[in-house]
Amino acid sequence: MLRHVTSVTIIIGGVDAVVKRLIAGNWKMFGLRSACNELEKLQNMMTPRDAERADVLICPPPTLLTTLTDRYGEGPILFGGQDCHPLEYGAFTGDVSAEQLKDAGATHCIVGHSERRQGYSETNTLVRRKAEAAHRAGLVPIVCVGETRGERVVCQASQVVIAQIEASMPTTSGEVVVAYEPIWAVGTGVIPDNETLEEMLSAIRETVGGDRRILYGGSVKPHNAAHIFSVPQVNGALIGGASLKAEDFYGIIAA
Ligand code: PGA
Repeated sequence: MLRHVTSVTIIIGGVDAVVKRLIAGNWKMFGLRSACNELEKLQNMMTPRDAERADVLICPPPTLLTTLTDRYGEGPILFGGQDCHPLEYGAFTGDVSAEQLKDAGATHCIVGHSERRQGYSETNTLVRRKAEAAHRAGLVPIVCVGETRGERVVCQASQVVIAQIEASMPTTSGEVVVAYEPIWAVGTGVIPDNETLEEMLSAIRETVGGDRRILYGGSVKPHNAAHIFSVPQVNGALIGGASLKAEDFYGIIAA
């Protein structure tokens, strides 16, 4: 089957045209070579209709990227990185460049995930440089933004998220995906109510314009995926825990 990435997301005259969803799995630091079995299962579960409705992306740890792209790169599943260095190459022990991800068969790269913003003190400027590096390498950056619970409690959520977007979007041209991931929803089993999600997604849409896919991320599971996808402006999902098991991830693809 031919691989294809559809990036056509168009709002013409305020009307959201049919947008192909992006269902992206972030394996984080999970997955040994035995995890290839899950890919095999997922690929077997996917029907041509699923591939028509959604681009399906898996971002495995870098140790698995070439193994997975060598085995499954001709199938309907796309592969991506979870992070990249802002420079093309250099003496940066332990880092991976966007070029290396591209060379390993990646099409996308997550940048600015909250686990990196918080755990490695990544600033908006660094996230923007990483997104620009992804573009230069020919990858689609998935720029993650999201507020903490504290910021939401003091009614700062949309200001924080809009400021993150304004400062971390790449200045290079090319496709960019924005992933709205409220930090309090990541890995907690809690998701925002519809009203909150609609409000945040509309604010993000106003900031990024009509031609970008906006994903929601944070505790997306097979049982809540249809509900999340029913929210206008949600063009797909970024999924952590539920992307590790083929059955769970497929449940979200099929929702
Ligand atoms: P989760 O993670 O689905 O396990 O909440 C989402 C993410 O970190 O992208």
